[in-house]
Amino acid sequence: MVASSASLLLLLTLIHQLLCVSAHDLLSSGSSLSVEDVLHSPDGTFTCGLHQISPNASTFSIWFSDSSETVTWSANPLHPVYTRGSKVELKSDGSMVLKDYNGQIVWTNNVNSSGTQHAQAQLLDTGNLIVKSKDGITLWQSFDSPTDTLLPTQSITAATKLVSKNRLLVPGHYSFHFDDQYLLSLFDDEKDISFIYWPNPSMTIWYKRRNPFNSTTNGALDRLGHFLGSDNATFTAADWGSDIARRLTLDYDGNLRLYSLDKADRTWSVTWMAFPQLCRVRGLCGRNGICMYTPAPACACAPGYEVIDPIDWTKGCSPRVNISCDGNEVKFVKLPNTDFLGYDLSAYHFVSYDFCKNICLSDCKCKGFAYWEGLGDCYPKSVLLGGVTISNKYSTGTMYLKLPKGVEVTKSSIPYSQPFGPKYGPNCSTTNDIYIADYLDTLNSGQSVSKFLYFYGFLSAIFLVEVIFFILGWLILRRERNQFRELWLAEAGYKMIANHFRRYTYRELVLATRKFKDELGRGASGVVYKGVLKDNRVVAVKMLVEINEGEEEFQHELSVISRIYHTNLVRVWGFCSDGPHRILVSEFVENGSLDKILFGSEGSENLLGWKQRFNIAVGVAKGLAYLHHECLEWVIHCDVKPENILLGENMEPKIADFGLAKLLNRGGSNIEVSRIRGTRGYLAPEWVSSLPITAKVDVYSFGVVLLELLKGVRVLELQKNEDEDVKMALGRVIRAFTGQPKSDGSDQSWTADFIDTRLHDQFNNSQARMMMDLTVSCLEEDRGRRPTMEYVVQMLVSVDEDTKTITG
Ligand SMILES: *[C@@H]1O[C@H](CO)[C@@H](O)[C@H](O)[C@H]1NC(C)=O
Ligand SMILES: *[C@@H]1O[C@H](CO)[C@@H](O)[C@H](O)[C@H]1NC(C)=O
Ligand SMILES: *[C@@H]1O[C@H](CO)[C@@H](O)[C@H](O)[C@H]1NC(C)=O
Ligand SMILES: *[C@@H]1O[C@H](CO)[C@@H](O)[C@H](O)[C@H]1NC(C)=O
Ligand SMILES: *[C@@H]1O[C@H](CO)[C@@H](O)[C@H](O)[C@H]1NC(C)=O
Ligand SMILES: *[C@@H]1O[C@H](CO)[C@@H](O)[C@H](O)[C@H]1NC(C)=O
Repeated sequence: MVASSASLLLLLTLIHQLLCVSAHDLLSSGSSLSVEDVLHSPDGTFTCGLHQISPNASTFSIWFSDSSETVTWSANPLHPVYTRGSKVELKSDGSMVLKDYNGQIVWTNNVNSSGTQHAQAQLLDTGNLIVKSKDGITLWQSFDSPTDTLLPTQSITAATKLVSKNRLLVPGHYSFHFDDQYLLSLFDDEKDISFIYWPNPSMTIWYKRRNPFNSTTNGALDRLGHFLGSDNATFTAADWGSDIARRLTLDYDGNLRLYSLDKADRTWSVTWMAFPQLCRVRGLCGRNGICMYTPAPACACAPGYEVIDPIDWTKGCSPRVNISCDGNEVKFVKLPNTDFLGYDLSAYHFVSYDFCKNICLSDCKCKGFAYWEGLGDCYPKSVLLGGVTISNKYSTGTMYLKLPKGVEVTKSSIPYSQPFGPKYGPNCSTTNDIYIADYLDTLNSGQSVSKFLYFYGFLSAIFLVEVIFFILGWLILRRERNQFRELWLAEAGYKMIANHFRRYTYRELVLATRKFKDELGRGASGVVYKGVLKDNRVVAVKMLVEINEGEEEFQHELSVISRIYHTNLVRVWGFCSDGPHRILVSEFVENGSLDKILFGSEGSENLLGWKQRFNIAVGVAKGLAYLHHECLEWVIHCDVKPENILLGENMEPKIADFGLAKLLNRGGSNIEVSRIRGTRGYLAPEWVSSLPITAKVDVYSFGVVLLELLKGVRVLELQKNEDEDVKMALGRVIRAFTGQPKSDGSDQSWTADFIDTRLHDQFNNSQARMMMDLTVSCLEEDRGRRPTMEYVVQMLVSVDEDTKTITG
């Protein structure tokens, strides 16, 4: 009964709200905005007004109309006003003030132009709120005082910075701005320590690829999703292109992320982030804390330490017992695969473990030391900050923690990362030692709202209104909380692991494939079967052969694959590792592989048209560019060929079979692909020579695929006679491509000689010329002269008619 009348009230209120909120395009001087009215940008993308952050409290903000939780700017995050009765006033001299219900001025834009009259405020399509004088001069704009979000075309300069919001929605301790070398950086300002954590401070300026001391200090995201700073800081959205709503936000966890709005379901997806692996945001778990993957990023204290504030892990952990200076009273506890950030008392190389241990024993300030077995590197540490435990045993040393002899350390209190779920998940009986760093879970309404409740506690007069707003607010908050939780997982790059990516049992897959009945294809790495999972998802199930790696290595490779997600890459849903079986479960792609359609016989109804071929070239290039540059670790495909390019419902390409070649390090030098992978005809020359294998082998294979798309003929069939091998045939074709005069692109007749005759000259000349030029440069013998896939994408997109018509 109570519930039903409450929902009736709610309904009435909603109707009331719908009727009462009126939208304007302009705010003229002398008028004001209250909770009942908002400003809209002309195209409706943005809304500006009083934004409710809790039942009674609001901030003056700008948000996406399609996603009202996504606030892009706030005037007064630290001082919310009471929703009813507060208003924003615009005076004729251009000053704008936000007044609380009792008339107290909470915020002003500090404009004071006595000469001006009839100023107007307007929200532009870019999301910029401007106040301009009658003659059109901008007196003030919200773009000059960003909060935690940068919108496309909005500049970050020496005078501005982004500051993260914490879970109470007030400014947190992470910020994004120019440092004293004029480099755009991420800062973590803690109570007694302040440090830069991006770009990686331990890298030299050369590795950072930045350009210091350019006093221009400017950076902006363009409309297509490319960011460029005066210091050469640059990154690009995975879905680079026009007509997508984007935002660059410094999130509460310290990660800088670029988001794209999916208009259809009004959700945000991450298209670039500074830290794909969240534990690298080193302040996350505070002093003496260790970040680990469970698989979601979580914090734990180093053994012998206890958490200071379980609600706010960035406060870190304190020692349970004081550590004595006397070397006879301490011991060292080994933390495998664990590393702490900097604060080295000194550094030694090629020394023994005992030497390192004695250094630490003899120094009272030493809290422990990192020792790299094999290298003999030794780093005694004075502060334990930014701890991280990863599952890959090759990329960190071992940490030896100094603890009093009396402290007992159980095995379960030693943190270790487990990129996979339940079977490898936290041991339930040890959960006391592990705190999932799910910040927003602990944001219960009581806590976050209590401040505002207290603040407005005396305003209890209008009882009914309050009840209604309480319910409304609770609903909003609840929705927000759920959304935040989603976001947390998605942002961490672990959404798939949590929601979809999972381990399957062999039995499940036997059932799904009806005992491996329906074979889809065979390749070097295994046989693929069609299957239907219990939730009716159609999947491709691949039985891997010749996986020599042990269980752990296999899982490490999978942990990388599981985090790869791009529209032009086949989505991997999960895996099975059961006894001798190693199986991958991935998305089923409707139209099969490119070779079947591209090399079909003349007159077959499935002939690929020009537009489709071009789109396939663009899509494959984007997918490879993502693998090479955008993901967590560099992944080289090593076997790009039409058989591994699947075509979706609308002939959009999806690359299959990636990530199984040995995963290569970003450094690019220590490459150990021992065995030739790949397929004859598509192999780059360096496979045969002893040169290291880099991403440029994929560029070469992509060049071959481009050629095949142009000619509609398999590369192996280009050979004129028995004596000519593939390389000679390719050389001949390339000479023919380059032998032609560089025309302005208008001469279509000779281009046609090189294009699949089945197309009957139905092709776009400038696209074809571009594909030919790229084929030639991708097939360069010298891999240094081959372009990167990112460059290839940019070139292809530059001749893409679809984007042209939109941007032009
Ligand atoms: C604006 O100018 C008036 C008079 O010049 C001055 O009294 C007032 O303090 C100024 N306000 C601000 C915000 O600077
Ligand atoms: C700027 O960035 C580009 C691309 O990352 C890189 O090739 C170039 O070397 C950088 N320039 C400087 C001066 O570091
Ligand atoms: C500094 O940055 C600006 C803007 O990006 C650029 O135009 C200029 O060439 C840079 N100057 C130097 C010396 O690199
Ligand atoms: C450690 O020593 C300090 C003073 O020396 C003392 O205040 C503190 O309580 C001690 N802590 C523990 C856990 O014994
Ligand atoms: C879980 O923890 C308990 C108690 O610490 C231990 O006995 C048990 O072996 C652990 N199980 C696993 C799978 O580690
Ligand atoms: C609004 O403020 C009054 C202050 O009393 C409080 O009692 C009431 O619960 C608040 N309303 C909501 C919905 O929080």
